[in-house]
Amino acid sequence: MDSRIASQRVERSSTRSLPIFYRNLEESLDERRASHIFNHVVQNGWQTSSAVDFCSGNILSIGSSNDRRVAFLAELDQNANLGTGSSGVRLMDGNYSYLEHTEREIAEHHGAEAGLLLASAWEANVAVWSAVPRPGDVIIHDTLVHASSYEGFKQSMAMEVVEFAHNDVDDFRRALHQVWETQPLVRQGKRSILVALEGVYSMDGDVCPLQDLVDVARDMPGIDGDIPNGNIQFVVDEAHSVGVLGPQGSGLVCELGLEKDVAIVVHSYGKALGAIGSVVLGSKTIKGILTNFGKSFVYTTSPSFPLVAAIRSGYALLKKGSAEQGQNRIQLLSKLFYELLTSHPLWDLARDKGILSVPLADGWEHRPFLTHIVAISSPQYSVWWMYFHLAAASFCVFPVEYPTVPIGKSRLRLIIHAHNTEDHVRGFISSLFGWVQEMLSIEQGETQADVPKAAGDVYRWMRQEGLTGFGMP
Ligand SMILES: Cc1ncc(COP(=O)(O)O)c(C=O)c1O
Repeated sequence: MDSRIASQRVERSSTRSLPIFYRNLEESLDERRASHIFNHVVQNGWQTSSAVDFCSGNILSIGSSNDRRVAFLAELDQNANLGTGSSGVRLMDGNYSYLEHTEREIAEHHGAEAGLLLASAWEANVAVWSAVPRPGDVIIHDTLVHASSYEGFKQSMAMEVVEFAHNDVDDFRRALHQVWETQPLVRQGKRSILVALEGVYSMDGDVCPLQDLVDVARDMPGIDGDIPNGNIQFVVDEAHSVGVLGPQGSGLVCELGLEKDVAIVVHSYGKALGAIGSVVLGSKTIKGILTNFGKSFVYTTSPSFPLVAAIRSGYALLKKGSAEQGQNRIQLLSKLFYELLTSHPLWDLARDKGILSVPLADGWEHRPFLTHIVAISSPQYSVWWMYFHLAAASFCVFPVEYPTVPIGKSRLRLIIHAHNTEDHVRGFISSLFGWVQEMLSIEQGETQADVPKAAGDVYRWMRQEGLTGFGMP
């Protein structure tokens, strides 16, 4: 963390002698440094120390398991004729039968007609949104979809892009009716609406009310007043739900049995499956559109054998029960987390005073399943104080700030993994409320300190170094 804070030091004086090209670039970076949002690549405590991993994307823990290693090496052994590179773009010399076979297997696993493997879900979302909406189509999206979908919207040929409030079914209905009324070609069934959603939202950790949204679309009137035209279609990014939800980790769409109601599903392999890459699932028509108009498919080297082997070995584990085991553990640990949180003697006071806010704690007992992502908020400045406290207690939890989340919505993002233990959760809650206690003591004037101890330690060092920001009063 020290290096991240230190990296915010404005460089103006040391870059004056650079050629104008670099000076201009440094000026743009200085704008970020001055706002303390300069991106700096950090060493992860969970990899380099004994700190508890409450942050990595290795949700089901299969990315680091020995079973995974064995399955991956077996793939390599059984396909010794395949090399490390794919040697070309998919449409020319980069296609190979192992890749095609894996795509068919994956499509079958998720109940889809076809699948297309790509290098990442970022590329998948950009490919989908830049290629699938045809001129005159309209995109309606949840306001919290990932930056890659926003990037795709910008490149799309859609006539209009309309957003609705996060997970708000009524606002979705409003957006749908607004488009229906203002776009005659859509109303007449000649153009389509594409709805962009995520299975589990990456920063808030809440599950999409997919069934309700599908029902709202089904209720829309058709050309003759009562028959839906099939021109409202759903696209679901399951980057954070693949592996974690659904039978054998097949995701939210499969969990809800909505395979026929969702036109396109994107899965990332960079998280629960412990690999890298992505798949776009849909009909053969969708695959045809992507292979013809998806520039991030057409003009790039096709996925290499080791990458596809890593994905395939991840599925082998899902099929052997790793998904169910991991899902059960995440449910158990998440339940313990919410139980300990909401039954803690300081919880109500911390919440009422605005020191702590955990939106998903409301009504957690009534949810059919709990997710592995928990957003823990506090006022903007004290998110850092909370972070410093937990880091000092050896818990790796990442602070998420603007521009990843809107200004004023900073939070710590806790990720509960299958490899976490009950003691990790108990220790985390105990440390969190230790911090709450310090905050209450400061507020009630019981101490001379104006910030909690861990923050005080960091700020002392920052003052010596002439650094500011990160909640420093
Ligand atoms: C919701 C969502 N979609 C897509 C992506 C991009 O995934 P990938 O890392 O495979 O590019 C992410 C990455 O964090 C994500 O959170």
